[in-house]
This record gives sequence, structure tokens and C-alpha cells, in this order.
Amino acid sequence: MESPFEILGIDADASDEEIVAAYRQRVKEAHPDQGGSAAEFQRVRAAYEELQQGYQPDALDVADAVDQTTNGESDGTDDPATADAREPSGPHIEYLNFETFSDHGWDLGDDDLFEKAAAADLAPEDYGVFSYDDGRNLLQSAEDCGYSWPFACRGGACANCAVAVVEGEVEMPSNHILSQEMVDRGIRLSCISEPISDELKVIYNIKHLPGLDDLRLPPQQFGGAND
Ligand code: FES
Repeated sequence: MESPFEILGIDADASDEEIVAAYRQRVKEAHPDQGGSAAEFQRVRAAYEELQQGYQPDALDVADAVDQTTNGESDGTDDPATADAREPSGPHIEYLNFETFSDHGWDLGDDDLFEKAAAADLAPEDYGVFSYDDGRNLLQSAEDCGYSWPFACRGGACANCAVAVVEGEVEMPSNHILSQEMVDRGIRLSCISEPISDELKVIYNIKHLPGLDDLRLPPQQFGGAND
């Protein structure tokens, strides 16, 4: 497995300044808007987080490095499937795009949606896992990892950013537009809701569900916001 240093393209004895500079460069290159991908963006971000948390190479990493140096052979981490399998180590959010449901005949009420999604070989923007930082709401957390989730006002005044929380807990400090019935069904506004459990499963892009569709705002008036 590639070490965080290798992912950022720096030596294992890099200084803090070199790590930050490499991260800033790599995260720009990896961003989906710059020709990268959400998975690569997430991989770079996870590597930086590991270094921030005091990552130390273990014996296995050292052995791998020696093996690659002496044999000139890859350990398989160039395979995107292997790289994408890197799981976040901290609190994380497992997400699923509601717009994939019709293609697969899934229903929001299905018990095993996430198991089916995991087996369906969906694109990274439609299904996956990302880690989140304290103090960031759901929408920001997704964007931090390079994902483009829908939104308009970013202030709790529309339903463009609505998500369905299937497992785990989020805190939504205020609610002026969702009915109690929607809240009871686990619907939250991602732009004002913060995760408060270590593991969360959410379905995003549910803005066209009956009831929510009527609460949407046109994204254009918010200066290029993503719908
Ligand atoms: S974007 Fe309008 S409530 Fe979140």
C-alpha cells in the first residue's frame, strides 16, 4: 500500500512546510474540476490527514519500499481499484445518490440499499465513503472531498440540499421548511446539518421527492450554485 508520503509525492523525511506545499499542489491536481476525480481527491486528502495525525511508517511499509527499490516491481497500488479501496480511519459518511435508484429498481424504503449499492459497482460520485471533520456540515464535508452535492441557498431556506439519513445521527439546529413528517423520516438539510455520530449513511440528491420538490429554489439566483 502506498504511504501518505508517496501519495503526496514527497520523501518520508519531508518537513511540515514541504508536506503542506505538496498537499496544496496535489489537492489542486486531484480536484475533479481540474481533471482529477473525487476518488483521487479523497485519497490525497486522507493521506494529508494521516500525516497531520502523526503517521509513522511501520515495518511493513519499510519492507514494501525496500522491495520496490530492489525489484523495481509495483505493489499493485497503481491499480485504481486498490487505491480506491482505502478506507477513511476516522468518523466517516457512507453516501448514495438517489438518482441511481431508478436505474436499479431500488426504493427509498428498501432495507439493504447500501449493501446493494456496495455490490453495484457505482461511480465514486454515486456511492462511496468519505471522512469528515468536526465543525463541518454535511454539504461542506462532501465538498471538502471533491463531491458536488446539490444546493441553492446554503442557509436552510430550500430543499435543494436535502438528504435522507438512513443510519447515524446529525444535528440540524433549526428547521423552518421541512414538515415534522419529513423530519421523522430522517430527512435533513445538508447545508445546516452536522454529523454527530462516527458513522453515517445518507442518501443525497432527494430534492425531487414529493413534498421536497415544491420547496426547491432556483439555483441561478444564488450565483452559480449547484442544483
Ligand atoms: S441549500 Fe437551501 S437549505 Fe440547504
